[in-house]
Amino acid sequence: MARRSLADRRILLTGASSGIGRALALQLAPFGVRLLLLARREAPLLELAAELKRLGASSAEPIVGDVTDAELRANVADQIRRDWGGLDMLINNAGVSAHGRFEGSSPAVLRQIMEVNFFAAAELARETFSLLKAGDDSLVVNIGSILGHRGVPFNSEYCASKFALRGWSEAIRPELARDGIDLLLVSPGTTDTEFFDHLLAQGEKLPWGEQQGVPVEKVAAQIVRAIERRRHEISPNWRGRLLGVLNRLSPRLVDRLMNRYG
Ligand SMILES: NC(=O)c1ccc[n+]([C@@H]2O[C@H](COP(=O)([O-])OP(=O)(O)OC[C@H]3O[C@@H](n4cnc5c(N)ncnc54)[C@H](OP(=O)(O)O)[C@@H]3O)[C@@H](O)[C@H]2O)c1
Repeated sequence: MARRSLADRRILLTGASSGIGRALALQLAPFGVRLLLLARREAPLLELAAELKRLGASSAEPIVGDVTDAELRANVADQIRRDWGGLDMLINNAGVSAHGRFEGSSPAVLRQIMEVNFFAAAELARETFSLLKAGDDSLVVNIGSILGHRGVPFNSEYCASKFALRGWSEAIRPELARDGIDLLLVSPGTTDTEFFDHLLAQGEKLPWGEQQGVPVEKVAAQIVRAIERRRHEISPNWRGRLLGVLNRLSPRLVDRLMNRYG
C-alpha cells in the first residue's frame, strides 16, 4: 500500500504540552498539518503553538483542559465538527504514572491512572468516531507502553492501564477497519521526558532503577515513520523490545527475575 501522506492532516493530539506529544507535534508541523493541542498547562501549549506555526503547521490551536473531563471531550468533538467537518488523526498520548507497592497505594491513584491512560483515550475515540469516519485515510494512534506487554512490580496501576489500552486497541482495530480507520499502537520503553517528574506517587523504584531514556526526538521520529508506513504496532526502544521478546520466549524466567525485586 502507498505511504500515508501527512500533508494538511487534521490532527487532535492529547498531552501536547511536554515530552513525546510535544516532540511529535514539532515533527508533524513541517508537513503543514492542522493541530489541536490538548493538555492542562496553558503556557507550554501557547509557546508550542507559536513554534509549530513557525515550522510550517497550517494551524495549531491550544485546548486547555483535562482529558478526564467528559464535557471537555464532547466540546472538543463539537469544535472539530464545526471547524473541520472531520478528523484525520486522533493521537491519544496523555499519560500519568505512579511508583510504589500496590498495598501502600490508594484508590485515588488507581482511579486517576485508569481515567487518564485508558478511559479518556477510549472515550475520546468514541466521541470522535463519526469525525474519523468523515476524515481522509483516518488513523487512531494510541501511545501505550512496553509495560502494557509485561507487568513489573511497583508500577501496577500503570501496567494495568497500558494493558487495558493495548487490549482495547487490538480489539477495536478490526471494528475500525470496516470504516476505513486504521490504528497504530506505540509501546515506548523508558524515554527521556518529564514523565518521571509528574508521578502521582513516589514509592519504591522500578526494578531497573533510574535508566537513561531514549531521546524523545528519536521516539517521535519513529512514530512519524510508523504512521507513514501504516504500521500497526511499534516499540521504539531496544531494551523494551528485549523485555517483550524475553517475556514471550520465557515468561517464567522473567517472573523469576521480577520476583527478586518484589
Ligand atoms: N517517558 C517514558 O519513559 C514513557 C515510556 C512509555 C510510555 N510513555 C507514555 O508516553 C506518553 C507521553 O508521556 P511523556 O513521556 O511524554 O511524559 P510527559 O512529558 O509527562 O507528558 C505527559 C503529557 O500528558 C499530559 N497529561 C497528563 N495528565 C493529563 C490530563 N489529566 N489531561 C490532559 N493532559 C494530561 C501532560 O500535560 P499537562 O500536565 O499539561 O496536562 C503532558 O503533556 C504517556 O502516555 C506515557 O504513558 C512514556
